[in-house]
Amino acid sequence: MTGKPVVYVVRALPGARWDAVAERFEIRGGGARPAPDWPGAAGGARALATTYLDAVTPAVLDRLPGLELVASYGVGVNHVDLPACRARGVRVTNTPGVLVRATADMTVALLLAAARRLAEGDRVIRRGGWIESDPTFLLGTEFSGKTLGVVGFGQIGQAVARRAAGFDLRVLYASPRDMGVAGAERVPLDRLLAESDLVALCCPLTPETRGLVSRERLARMKRGAVLVNTSRGPVVDDAAVAEALRSGQLGAAGLDVFPDEPRVPEAYLGLDNVVLTPHLGSGTRETRAAMTAMVLEELLRFARGAPALHPVA
Ligand code: DGY
Repeated sequence: MTGKPVVYVVRALPGARWDAVAERFEIRGGGARPAPDWPGAAGGARALATTYLDAVTPAVLDRLPGLELVASYGVGVNHVDLPACRARGVRVTNTPGVLVRATADMTVALLLAAARRLAEGDRVIRRGGWIESDPTFLLGTEFSGKTLGVVGFGQIGQAVARRAAGFDLRVLYASPRDMGVAGAERVPLDRLLAESDLVALCCPLTPETRGLVSRERLARMKRGAVLVNTSRGPVVDDAAVAEALRSGQLGAAGLDVFPDEPRVPEAYLGLDNVVLTPHLGSGTRETRAAMTAMVLEELLRFARGAPALHPVA
C-alpha cells in the first residue's frame, strides 16, 4: 500500500517506460498475459490500462466501483461498453492517429499479398511444389490500375487511399459522411461493392457495421474480387466469406482480424486463396511504442486532473 491511486495494467504494453507513471500511481498487473480473473486482480484500481483484447463490460465495471479511467491501447473501442462507462462517470481514452500509417501499410500489404498470391507462392516453394517454370503457374490478379473500394473513410481509410494513388487505383469509398477527399469518390456501399476489384474494410465495429459483409452483399460483389479486413472480425460473416472464397465469388482475401481472437475460423484454414495474419495492423515496434506512450500520457493527465487527450467517453 503506497497511498497512491492504483493503476491496473491488464497486460504488458510494448516499449513502455513507466517511471513517470510510477511516481503518481501504484502500478499493479502488467504481466505478459492477463491474470485469469483480471477484474478481480484489479480490485481497488482507479485506472485501468487495457487493450482491445480485454472486454470492459458492465459486469467488469460492477467489480471495479472505484474506477475512474479506462486508458485503452488501440483506436478501436468496441471492447469497452461506452454507455456503461458514461453512466458511471468513467473516462475512456484511446490511441488514435499514431497507428494510421502502420495499419494502412498493412491493409495495402494484404491487398497485394492476396491479389498476387504471395503467401500461397511461399507455401508452394516450402513444400517442394515449384517443380518447373510454367507461364501459367500461380497467376494472380492485376493490382495497379484497378478500382479499390474503401469501406470506412476515417484516418486509416484515407491513408489507404493515399497509398492507392501510387498504384494508379481508382478509389471509391463508403462512409456515413462526405469526407471531401480529392481523388476519392463517395458512393453508396452497394455501388462500391458492385464496382470494386479490391475492397478494404477500414471501418470501426459498431451496431451498423456488424455483419456488414453478409452473404447477400458478397453475392453483389464483382466475381473474383479481393476482400481485405483490417478493422474488426465481426464486420464480416466468416462462414459466408469462406463459402465465397471456395466458390470463386471472392478471388482472394486478406484477413487480419477475427471475431474471437486468437481463434481463427476453421473454414479458412484449408483455403489457399486467403492470407491470414494475427491482428498485425498496428504491429510495428515504432507504432506500438507510440500507442503505449499515449496510454501513459492519458494516465499522467488523469493524475494531474488535466483533460484527456483522446476521450471517447
Ligand atoms: C486498434 O488500435 O484498434 C487495433 O486493432 C490494434 O492493433
